[in-house]
Amino acid sequence: MPALVLLGAQWGDEGKGKATDLLGGSVDYVVRYQGGNNAGHTVVVGDQKYALHLLPSGILSPGCTPVIGNGVVVDPSVLLSELSGLNERGVDTSKLLISGNAHIITPYNVTVDKVTERFLGKRKIGTTGRGIGPTYADKINRVGIRVQDLYDESILTQKVEAALDGKNQLLTKLYNRRAIAVDQVVEELLGYAEKLAPYVTDTVLLLNQALEADKVVLFEGGQGTLLDIDHGTYPFVTSSNPTAGGACTGAGVGPTKISRVIGILKAYTTRVGSGPFPTELFDEDGEALRRIGGERGVTTGRDRRCGWFDAVIARYATRVNGLTDFFLTKLDVLTGWERIPVCVAYEIDGKRVEELPYSQSDFHHAKPIYETLPGWSEDITKAKSFSDLPKNAQAYVKALEEMSGAPISAIGVGPGRDETIEINSFL
Ligand code: GDP
Ligand code: IMO
Ligand code: MG
Repeated sequence: MPALVLLGAQWGDEGKGKATDLLGGSVDYVVRYQGGNNAGHTVVVGDQKYALHLLPSGILSPGCTPVIGNGVVVDPSVLLSELSGLNERGVDTSKLLISGNAHIITPYNVTVDKVTERFLGKRKIGTTGRGIGPTYADKINRVGIRVQDLYDESILTQKVEAALDGKNQLLTKLYNRRAIAVDQVVEELLGYAEKLAPYVTDTVLLLNQALEADKVVLFEGGQGTLLDIDHGTYPFVTSSNPTAGGACTGAGVGPTKISRVIGILKAYTTRVGSGPFPTELFDEDGEALRRIGGERGVTTGRDRRCGWFDAVIARYATRVNGLTDFFLTKLDVLTGWERIPVCVAYEIDGKRVEELPYSQSDFHHAKPIYETLPGWSEDITKAKSFSDLPKNAQAYVKALEEMSGAPISAIGVGPGRDETIEINSFL
């Protein structure tokens, strides 16, 4: 029983934090493999609510070692304040491990994120403004700063110089901003070195050794399949690979080690930021989903765009991730609707299309074709088994399962750890 991947099957915010936390008590390691503090993962334990951005949700399970893998981008100031915030609430964070190969989100990456979005105007991506895209761009351009660079001042200075050379030209000449001084950046980054030192290690070696020793490793994705840089709704995506393959590159673990890939799937759909969203609602139903589902961003506080469930997207997630299971979340939010529409296919230029079109232009004007399922009005938040659900809720879950191409192995009926119906065990 070695490695499991848990990832978002839609546009993020599916409830990955809750699902990871639920498994946290039964696994040895929880590893973030991509993204950074653009993520906002909510975990509710008893009457305590935690919003995690950079830390793996396993940090809240005492027996579990949380790991920030090489594929993650790390803003040291955010990380340190997240750690001290948890320490103040009595959470032990001493087991955390950070890859020396993870890239650092520098202050200039954050600046570039904000100015480029402003420059794009109406065409903006609607990023979280956390410097994610520019940091991954520096990584690919080979001018990135890695965590290990904090421990060699001369190398760090050279690298910051190389990174700022071109950027300062852009900032001053194109964006009309002040140049950023190398010394200031180096000084700030060096200030984090000692505080981070206890956590920094060769996480690739460690995770592979753990797998050899039959330890259970859970990879926790940030964002979601449709925000993937390769497989998402490009360019309205994030700059990393939340899809299953990202776990291999982002943690240094071979695909042969992964035995299970769990897609977290909301019983309806949400999206934050710009980009196409076929089932988006602009009416009272959309407003009601937002209100009842508490659909407000954990990271930026933006209202999430809301719409009905889209089975085309779910099938696509099954395919590109090789999903073995779904964890269906927030079924309780749909209680009270008399009839619930579900998108089963799209109409594009008068034709019925069953699978996600590869053409961006087609996807931008895809119209949802709905099938309407009967709703339920009974409170389902106390349901402990599938048979506790009202017949129509059972039928809704079964219909989604059939359309989506992988078994629904767990159902969320509330934000708390125990508000979950487990159908097939994940471990
Ligand atoms: P993540 O980014 O995928 O971890 O998801 P977020 O934390 O951004 O958003 C999911 C929200 O839904 C959080 O507020 C969770 O506490 C909440 N949540 C998760 N699962 C359920 C569920 O089954 N029912 C309800 N009502 N809320 C849930
Ligand atoms: P979790 O892990 C939802 C979205 C942003 C924007 C796009 C690019 O909580 O599911 P970025 O700052 O990453 O360059 O922004 O991606 N986005 C998310 N949407 N949940 C997230 O994370 C997101 N992380 C980024 O809104 O549209
Ligand atoms: Mg979130």
